[in-house]
Amino acid sequence: MTANRLTVRRALVTDDVALLRIDQTSWDVSTGFPSYQEHIRESFFARSGPEAHLVAEYDGEVVGYLRLQDKYTFPEGAGVLTINGLAVAEKARGRGVATALLDAADAEGRLLGARKISLHVHGTNTAARRLYERNGYVVEGIHPNEYVIDGKYVDSVDMAKTLWAV
Ligand SMILES: CC(C)(COP(=O)(O)OP(=O)(O)OC[C@H]1O[C@@H](n2cnc3c(N)ncnc32)[C@H](O)[C@@H]1OP(=O)(O)O)[C@@H](O)C(=O)NCCC(=O)NCCS
Repeated sequence: MTANRLTVRRALVTDDVALLRIDQTSWDVSTGFPSYQEHIRESFFARSGPEAHLVAEYDGEVVGYLRLQDKYTFPEGAGVLTINGLAVAEKARGRGVATALLDAADAEGRLLGARKISLHVHGTNTAARRLYERNGYVVEGIHPNEYVIDGKYVDSVDMAKTLWAV
């Protein structure tokens, strides 16, 4: 039974309320941008629709999401996807939910023929950096002191995973 507790699927319009709640409670100054959080949104999918999201359920409850999109809109950048958001409800952390979402993103990327998945993570977000490294992402570059968050300078770290080498 344990194997069925955690499942990942594509998002549905009806996930909006559950994902909005997760988004509103998942981020802090070490992981996100407070200005985003202050901007009260009525719809999780206002930013981008269900088609851009993978959703994790634990025991049938929506507990996390991963937003996977094309990194570039022009043809020369085709084949590079980007993770534009990943969050897991606090109560469901440490059970492999984010790892399962990253596995599903890999599968989606391979299905689409993508060669690489990239992302940005705050230098201060040690849990996420560890997660990405464990899942095959490597640091491609660091932008030192890129942001000022809560009065402190924060690095932006570019990471990526190669799905097939050129
Ligand atoms: C970062 C984040 C997405 C991780 O989600 P998560 O579901 O807890 O991640 P996982 O469970 O896959 O891995 C977390 C830890 O649990 C461990 N773990 C995974 N499955 C496990 C299991 N079945 N039993 C015990 N431990 C487990 C992992 O080894 C990992 O250990 P570590 O902390 O030593 O690295 C989550 O903390 C979060 O939403 N943070 C806020 C938003 C954020 O920072 N997003 C990333 C922005 S770039």
